[in-house]
Amino acid sequence: PLAATGDLIAGATADHTAVAAFNIITLEHVEAVIAGAESVGAPVVLQISENAVKFRYGRLLPLARAAAAAAERASVAVALHLDHVQSDDLLRQAPGAGFGSVMYDAARLPYAENLAATRAAADWAHARGLWIEAELGQVGGKNGEPPLDAHAAGARTDPAEARAFVADSGVDALAVAIGSSHAMTSRTAALDHGLLRRLAAQLDVPLVLHGSSGLPDDELAAAVTGGIAKVNIGTALNLAMTRAIREFLAAHPDAVDSRKYLSVGREAMAAAAAELIAVLRAAGGP
Ligand code: G3H
Ligand code: ZN
Repeated sequence: PLAATGDLIAGATADHTAVAAFNIITLEHVEAVIAGAESVGAPVVLQISENAVKFRYGRLLPLARAAAAAAERASVAVALHLDHVQSDDLLRQAPGAGFGSVMYDAARLPYAENLAATRAAADWAHARGLWIEAELGQVGGKNGEPPLDAHAAGARTDPAEARAFVADSGVDALAVAIGSSHAMTSRTAALDHGLLRRLAAQLDVPLVLHGSSGLPDDELAAAVTGGIAKVNIGTALNLAMTRAIREFLAAHPDAVDSRKYLSVGREAMAAAAAELIAVLRAAGGP
């Protein structure tokens, strides 16, 4: 059934584990993530980024409605989340398109401007019952910028600043820059675990990890035990899908029916999603 992101995160926090939030781009992503979550019996978040909306000719509703319909029929709890929203126009579409939560991304702005924009977005969201996540620090690799930028120490989230940011903006969760970076196609990133500990000690809202595809299993597990409650994963699904389709088409150069290769891509994404959810859940425990 359709669930609320805030409720899934509260449940995960109580279990000392984390909710996986997968970026969906096509209907195959939607079906694969739900199949993967069902195979391990875990709740999951489907998230649509502003970039994915741009890919869908700027239209949110078609994919959002497909995701909501799939979520309603799932045997596990599935939440719909709008990810990396920079445009106020898109933010305003969230409640009417079935989203219970949004990530408002003004992290590119200087601190005072990020805070002012995020506070306005949080006030607007809360007046409509939306759960809102924001970002402080620079998780690099957005929009094709070099993926390793966030590994620079200066890009990371400062704990004292984060505490003030959360208190002054009123957000429900905070995405933190602790060494991961978006769009990595190798799982070679390393987190600053000391910084994560300090952030978790300073903040009483759930912490969100972005750019999680670049982390190996042990780093993902350590992030969960360190206090990360929502793990955003996008590139890992694309990697699984594209690799599987590329292999299939190489082996079947005469294939024409799109169902043949899309089903191979969908199965590969479902398996990848299930494995990653299992890693996060295995890290949980008292
Ligand atoms: O918000 C989306 C995530 O941070 C995904 O990052 O594609 O590097 O896994 P990723
Ligand atoms: Zn992200």
